[in-house]
Amino acid sequence: MTKKKTVIANWKMNPEKYKEAEKLLVSVLKPFPRFKKTNVIICPPAIYLQRLEKISKKVSFGGQNMFWLEKGAQTGEISPSMLVDAKAKYVIIGHSERRAMGETNEDINKKLKLSLSFGLIPIVCIGESDRDENHEYFNIVKSQIEECLFGLSRQSLSKIMIAYEPVWAISTTPNHRFATPADSKEMSIFIQKVISDTFGVSGSSLPTVLYGGSVDERDVGSFLEDGGIEGVLVGGASLKPEKFTEIIKICEALKN
Ligand code: PGA
Repeated sequence: MTKKKTVIANWKMNPEKYKEAEKLLVSVLKPFPRFKKTNVIICPPAIYLQRLEKISKKVSFGGQNMFWLEKGAQTGEISPSMLVDAKAKYVIIGHSERRAMGETNEDINKKLKLSLSFGLIPIVCIGESDRDENHEYFNIVKSQIEECLFGLSRQSLSKIMIAYEPVWAISTTPNHRFATPADSKEMSIFIQKVISDTFGVSGSSLPTVLYGGSVDERDVGSFLEDGGIEGVLVGGASLKPEKFTEIIKICEALKN
């Protein structure tokens, strides 16, 4: 049996009202009696999680961030146990928009370890801000992997997802460019090699690698077929039901 592809919706700080979030979820689910080949994960703003989760068991839910301490006086933060209590199975960690607010690889490492200890599946975002002629971006990605995954046990590696999200390809980056499936394939091989060299693991012991950055219904098929990845993290297009359902349909229709 082939492994299911993963399609993650990162709604970011949208929609503005719970009723709209509910409408969005219902429209996304409508065309599908069930998902046969796709693991669909919706990451809404945390305040909507508990109510949305009651609408459907067909999809899984995830948080968009969490704090690196279990509990305490941390105004405005959300703990891993709160996510678990809201029935989230996943949590995005280290998104570039959070890194831009000051989150470091060290913070991400702490969040990653804590999320695993609570049974959450972390979706760790990595990716360079820009590409340079000297290919320095490979070193940037390598450091992100080494520092974010530092101290993880070999057994926990297969439980995590790594989303390669080059910041220059994210739709909200000013003058963003489009990455190609070849870019994603090259980086996916590189990511797996760095992890394999660092931890001495291979094959099914490696994390699942995903791609994110302006993915929509027009290019998702080629990313999944030729991009060397097992799924996609979708921002902008996940807020448009007609686009997101098309993305899932393409995934469901894939041969492998
Ligand atoms: P995008 O966002 O699909 O709108 O580029 C992806 C992300 O930021 O995770």
